[in-house]
Amino acid sequence: MTTPPVCDYEGSDYQTSFWEQGGRQYEDRAEAIALKRLLPAGGRLLLELGAGAGRNTPRYQGYERIVLLDYSRTQLQQARARLGSSERYIYVAADIYKLPFIDGIFDGATMIRTLHHMAEAPKALAQVRRVLGPGATFILEYANKLNLKAILRYWLGRQSWSPFSLEPVEFAALNFDFHPKAIRGWLAELGFDVQKVLTVSHFRMGFLKRTLPAGLLAGLDGWFQPSGALFQLTPSVFVRSQLSGTGSGATGKMVDLFCCPECATHPLQDNGDHLACPGCGKKWALRDGIYDFRESIS
Ligand SMILES: C[S@@+](CC[C@H](N)C(=O)[O-])C[C@H]1O[C@@H](n2cnc3c(N)ncnc32)[C@H](O)[C@@H]1O
Repeated sequence: MTTPPVCDYEGSDYQTSFWEQGGRQYEDRAEAIALKRLLPAGGRLLLELGAGAGRNTPRYQGYERIVLLDYSRTQLQQARARLGSSERYIYVAADIYKLPFIDGIFDGATMIRTLHHMAEAPKALAQVRRVLGPGATFILEYANKLNLKAILRYWLGRQSWSPFSLEPVEFAALNFDFHPKAIRGWLAELGFDVQKVLTVSHFRMGFLKRTLPAGLLAGLDGWFQPSGALFQLTPSVFVRSQLSGTGSGATGKMVDLFCCPECATHPLQDNGDHLACPGCGKKWALRDGIYDFRESIS
């Protein structure tokens, strides 16, 4: 199966250089406020897509178990160092375009700062839809091409691409901004009912971030976030949508919920240090507490 290219974070110091030393306290706090407003009170099994080093994971308190999925093994190692090994957290290295789970098992999913890297966003969203069950909640953050700065730059002739057209813009290799209407259309096609939209990072401007404390800016951001229900002109937008029905969120052993990412065979055979696929014969390693579905070991 051929899949779209992946923006590979293997070996990246993203968590430290971008978040901890990159002056992003304001954005981090503003996202925390948005997530608090969007997350349901509770749930059984949450899939965090593009979990990275687990920056947001502690914010998903209401869920009994959380699957942290990322393409980068080193990001997951950092997440594991932060969150530890317990029944509550399951670490999975895999490609979002080939999710190694059976259909409909999750009652929640989040995808924060990750759609941003999807060259074929509808394909990625279709995979998310496949593994969510009836009544599941999906919280999606996307980078908005229709943001105020892009509009002004376009009108002043400093930017060649139009923020008003529906197609995604790749402003750097494998980094995409999306039009809000395109996102709404893709979600609707997949049967998601959009319940709430919050605009985030209204004040992502160097001079404001240098002069005002991050907590104050984030608090102000929180005030403006609900305006996302009316219009979206910020660089980041959070959307909570839901599938119809009730009663999803699998319990039981996680290994029973995996399927082979190559041939979709289920169940996989648990051999301790690897899972074996009885369909295609591929073996998927479990190393240092991380299930690795990127490349088979045979
Ligand atoms: C910008 S980081 C965001 C990390 C985290 N969500 C956060 O907000 O701190 C994007 C993450 O998406 C992951 N990623 C990118 N493409 C992926 C893919 N095709 N499958 C799985 N993960 C992917 C990267 O490895 C990276 O950890």
